[in-house]
Amino acid sequence: KENVTNKIKKQILEDTKEFVFQTLNNEKSGHDWFHIQRVVNLTKQIAQQEARQVDAFVCEMAALLHDIPDEKLNVTPEIGKQRVEHWLKRQKLALVDQTAILTIVLNLSYKGGTNKVQLETIEGKIVQDADRLDAMGAIGIARTMIYSGHHGRPMHDPAKQPRTNMTLAEYRSNEDTAIMHFYEKLLKLKDTMNTTTGKKLANERHLYMENYLKEFFAEWNGEK
Ligand code: ADP
Ligand code: NI
Repeated sequence: KENVTNKIKKQILEDTKEFVFQTLNNEKSGHDWFHIQRVVNLTKQIAQQEARQVDAFVCEMAALLHDIPDEKLNVTPEIGKQRVEHWLKRQKLALVDQTAILTIVLNLSYKGGTNKVQLETIEGKIVQDADRLDAMGAIGIARTMIYSGHHGRPMHDPAKQPRTNMTLAEYRSNEDTAIMHFYEKLLKLKDTMNTTTGKKLANERHLYMENYLKEFFAEWNGEK
């Protein structure tokens, strides 16, 4: 019985990969398939390090589906939610697994720090850490520059005064620049990590971003 179940789960993972790839491939809003791949890999890496028992299947399914209900991809949040729900219902999944995956996917996102929903399960905590890690470090810097460029924003404007602990209102009253996004979001992510491994990886990526900013401002100000 165990082998049959594993075989079914393997097939569900394969089908879900295809579904997510096709969905994100057709959309052009910066939610790319490679981000999903990296989040899946980080999820596996963190799950392996956890001392606790972790459901690898629930983790991977949630990582694969986590951007499907994103507001940028759907006309309304309700439609995004239904998209995931319908997909899960069509699979030969136990109801507990369906619920576990859906709960993670619907409550994962950062939403400018306004999302205060705590993910209760270890699987949820892991996937959330993985998604946040992909917004940090060298990849996070590159994603930020791409996003800014795509929206026609400059990388930096010295008239804006970036500092840590800005309020969201303060931040919004400044025009967006790529560098401002570090202070609005990227440098805050380290302190939102759930797992021990997530924290360790986030510390490394945080340090990398701090060094990057130091270098950036030194070059900008002609000190190098
Ligand atoms: P995710 O797909 O990880 O949930 P988002 O959809 O919020 O994240 O953003 C995708 C990427 O673009 C992330 O790396 C994020 O840091 C970056 N990004 C989001 N908003 C901005 C912004 N205002 N300026 C620059 N980069 C941004
Ligand atoms: Ni994401």
